[in-house]
Amino acid sequence: GHKESLQGKTVLITAGPTYEAIDPVRFIGNHSSGKMGFSLAEEAAARGAEVILISGPSAQKTGHQKIRLHQVTSAREMLDKVFEFYDRTDIGIASAAVADYAPKEAAREKIKKNDDHLTIELVKNPDILKTMGERKTRQFLVGFALETQNEEENAKAKLEKKNLDMIVLNSLRDEGAGFKNDTNKIKIFTRTEKKEFDLKSKEEVAKDILDFVESQLLK
Ligand code: PMT
Repeated sequence: GHKESLQGKTVLITAGPTYEAIDPVRFIGNHSSGKMGFSLAEEAAARGAEVILISGPSAQKTGHQKIRLHQVTSAREMLDKVFEFYDRTDIGIASAAVADYAPKEAAREKIKKNDDHLTIELVKNPDILKTMGERKTRQFLVGFALETQNEEENAKAKLEKKNLDMIVLNSLRDEGAGFKNDTNKIKIFTRTEKKEFDLKSKEEVAKDILDFVESQLLK
């Protein structure tokens, strides 16, 4: 039913986790599988969009000819890749779970286990989505919020702070939602609207998200 509804649009999607190197063998990461972002990419491509999919380390695969997959590792690399393509982006969707902090510097050699305590100094990573919000010209920007408490309040605060048009909330308090699962349960917020959805497959959730985006673009 949605064939060609995003024809002529360029959709940029961030997906997956980022890995921040501690030393040549270790990193700081998280449980994101990339499934949510890859499902969004498949659905946007099925609707005729040109899709730029920028993903951290993920086992997900894509073969759609309208999806250009760019694989990155760290938040820094993801930021650089996003801004290579941002000017030509019509719709930006940030589903990546970006590490908020990274080791100040990665050790050049494998850290030996000599001491009983090891301190690794972390520094704040760039906020990719916030930077997209600051540099927004004509882009329609969709963020995600992964929360464990004060979910709605936090999601709405992120919508404002990052200058988004829409935010998708998923809560780790909902069973079957968030990381790794093949399912997700979301709420969508704009500045004036709120819509709640049932637990569904990530493919179905991607359809709901893009239906909502399209309804906003018509306004
Ligand atoms: O990959 P899956 O296993 O399928 O799991 C999907 C998911 C749970 C990762 C996904 O649905 C999700 O919620 N992604 C966002 C996770 C997250 O990091 O949320 P946040 O509330 O910490 O960040 C808010 C928003 O800012 C997000 O859009 C995030 O991509 C973005 N962000 C955050 C920090 C940062 N340094 N740069 C960013 O761009």
